[in-house]
Amino acid sequence: MTVETVKTAEEKKRFVRDKFASISNRYDFLNSLLSLKVDSYWRWVTTRELKEFPEGAVLDLCAGTLPLALELTRQASKRTVVAVDFCEDMLRRGLKSLPLDDRRNRIGAVCGDGEEIPAATEKFWGVTVAFGVRNLANTAKGLTEMHRVLKPGGKLLILEFSRPSNAIFKPIYSFYLNRVLPKVAGLVSGDKEAYEYLARSIAEFYEPEELLTMIRKAGFSRQYYRPLTMGIVTVYVGIK
Ligand SMILES: C[S@@+](CC[C@H](N)C(=O)[O-])C[C@H]1O[C@@H](n2cnc3c(N)ncnc32)[C@H](O)[C@@H]1O
Repeated sequence: MTVETVKTAEEKKRFVRDKFASISNRYDFLNSLLSLKVDSYWRWVTTRELKEFPEGAVLDLCAGTLPLALELTRQASKRTVVAVDFCEDMLRRGLKSLPLDDRRNRIGAVCGDGEEIPAATEKFWGVTVAFGVRNLANTAKGLTEMHRVLKPGGKLLILEFSRPSNAIFKPIYSFYLNRVLPKVAGLVSGDKEAYEYLARSIAEFYEPEELLTMIRKAGFSRQYYRPLTMGIVTVYVGIK
């Protein structure tokens, strides 16, 4: 299956799961390389938004190799994280490289679908999703599920790629994303298509205002967003 032949939601899920499985061993290295380590800063900023909930369980959805779960447990020593992802290879890779400190006891990994979250209703004070919402086959369904599992007063945090609007920076970033990144990442990961999909999924994703409207429609009562690094990424906040 190629990205061009993907038609249905089930096909998108299969395609996305297979692509992440194929790059799982190189995912962390490539993230740091391609973002010049700025991705750690983005996860740090996102996690800071949860500082009013330093204890109890947070759900990290589309958790992948667990970089956000690690930051969530690093910033609050009494916080636990339930990390959900439907790609077992990504989770296994993350579990293998957990540091040898108490954080490995505070992160639990569950293989499951973000559009049918395997968790009870009103269970978490926080739900986080870093670079995952863009990959969901049905964004609205995923957002409704995130709302369901949050306690009233709980917070949703979404970190996602967006498109810079600065007239000078825009073409430079677009060249990097469409030409440089698939070549470099293709060579390192052995799967150029995975990174062509990345560029395409960023280009086709919602505008921040559109995603904010979807967050509101999913039931959140207060929502806002904050662009970072010239709008390469945006942090969205929704309060239940
Ligand atoms: C770009 S990675 C992000 C990983 C991690 N959150 C990070 O910050 O690097 C996206 C992850 O979303 C997962 N994913 C995509 N669709 C999903 C779904 N419907 N349910 C669960 N996980 C999903 C993929 O398997 C992949 O591990």
